[in-house]
Amino acid sequence: MVRYNRVAIAFHWLIAALIIINLGLGWWMGDALNDSASRNTAANTFQWHKSIGLSVLALSLLRLSWRLLHPAPALPPHTPPWERFAASATHGLFYALMLGLPLSGWLYVSTQWRGDAPMTVPTLWFGLFEVPHLLALNTQDDTARQAIAGTTLQAHEILSSVFILLLVLHVAAAFRHHLMLRDDILARMIPALSSADKSTLPSNG
Ligand code: HEM
Repeated sequence: MVRYNRVAIAFHWLIAALIIINLGLGWWMGDALNDSASRNTAANTFQWHKSIGLSVLALSLLRLSWRLLHPAPALPPHTPPWERFAASATHGLFYALMLGLPLSGWLYVSTQWRGDAPMTVPTLWFGLFEVPHLLALNTQDDTARQAIAGTTLQAHEILSSVFILLLVLHVAAAFRHHLMLRDDILARMIPALSSADKSTLPSNG
């Protein structure tokens, strides 16, 4: 069996875990900020959400560079053309979302505008340093800031919903291969699932 190498596997699971955590935090914190009982916790959670999201952006750029230098292992020869197309389309869309989703959040907070009022809330990456606002959006006039905040937040929400949809398809496809087709596609990302002797396997990707 040809599998992904350790770096590609580490990127995959680390980024997947961070994104899943951030989807949960994102959904909880927006409403929690408007509720006086959970306002303080929500404000802290915003910083965690932003720090995790920016880490996903940085890790995704590294992962994309790695992927360009180390192509993914070839699919098994029996894979039909429609499935080859579906796999490469899904993977391309995943990369676009891994970059576009955090970027839309970063653009949104760069406007320093929420709802119908300006705000002054720096983004502190895990409390270590302040992250700059993109394109000096916070210095635009109020009408422009409000419009950009509205558009980028909407994009952030739509992209996160598309992400979930894609995630469900991706997980379903992985389980179909493992449980129904009984091939090694899932084991390429989880080598422990492989029944073959792992120490002698070639790796790639
Ligand atoms: C892995 C990357 C990310 C994921 C999966 C993610 C996901 C989400 C989700 C699901 C929501 C709730 C949307 C809704 O209410 O329908 C949200 C809200 C939000 N996200 Fe992200 N996000 C990510 C990255 C970022 C980044 C990098 C920033 C900023 C630097 C950011 C800033 C925000 C803010 C401020 C909100 C709340 C908007 C509000 O209620 O005012 N996000 N995010």
